[in-house]
Amino acid sequence: MIVVIDGPAGSGKSSTAKAVAQQLGIQYLDSGALYRAATLVFIRANEVTEAFLELLKENQILFQFKEGNFEVFIDSENVSEEIRTMEVSNLVSTVASMPQVRAHINRLMNKVVEDGMFIADGRDLGTAVFPNAVLKFFMVADAETRAIRRLKDLKNTGVEVTLEDVIQNIEERDHTDSNRAADPLMKANDAIEIDSGTFTFQEQVDFISEKIKPLIQSHN
Ligand code: DC
Repeated sequence: MIVVIDGPAGSGKSSTAKAVAQQLGIQYLDSGALYRAATLVFIRANEVTEAFLELLKENQILFQFKEGNFEVFIDSENVSEEIRTMEVSNLVSTVASMPQVRAHINRLMNKVVEDGMFIADGRDLGTAVFPNAVLKFFMVADAETRAIRRLKDLKNTGVEVTLEDVIQNIEERDHTDSNRAADPLMKANDAIEIDSGTFTFQEQVDFISEKIKPLIQSHN
C-alpha cells in the first residue's frame, strides 16, 4: 500500500513523510534521493549521456529506511551524503528530465512497494508513478520559506552556501520540474493540498497520520 506526498523542492514533504513513517511504523521512500543517486552516476560518467545510461544499467541503486534515516546506495557504496551536495542539486532536475531515467526509477519504485506499507515523497508520484495510491497529498510553501528551510538543512550537514544561492537553485528547479515534458511536477486531482506555512510541523505530521491510520487498520 502506498501513500504519496508530492510538492516542490523544500516544501517540507521529505521531513514530514519521514516523521509520519516513524510515527506510524511504516516504510519511507524518498524518490528525490533516487534521482540524486542517478545524478551522481551521471557525474561519474563525466556527464556524457550514452556512458551514463550504460552505467545506470550496470549500477544498482538501492535504499533502506532504518532508525529514521533514509540511506541510498550505489551497489554497496553508501552515497547518502554525497547526493546532497550542491553539485548534485544543480544537475538533478536535468537528469530527472530524461525519460529513460524516469522509467528506470519508476520501475525500481513500483517493484519495491509491492510488499509492505509505504509513504513516499516526490514530484509526480500521485500523477505518474502511483496514480492508484490510496491517499495523496500535495504540499506547498513560498520559495523563500522553502529556501530558508533548505539552507538550515545544508548548514547542518556542513555545506556552506548563501540564501541567495539556495533561492536561485529552488526557483530554477521549480521551473525545470514544472515545465519538463516527462511527468512534470503536478498536483493530482484527488490530492489533498497542504500549505506547510499554515501548520506547525507536528500539526502537519498528525494531520497526515490521522488520515493514514484507518487505512493501516484495514490493510492489516
Ligand atoms: O526532493 P529532492 O529535492 O531531493 O529531489 C531532487 C530532484 O529530483 C528534484 O529537483 C526533481 C527530481 N524529482 C523528480 O523529478 N521526481 C520525483 N518524483 C522526485 C524528485
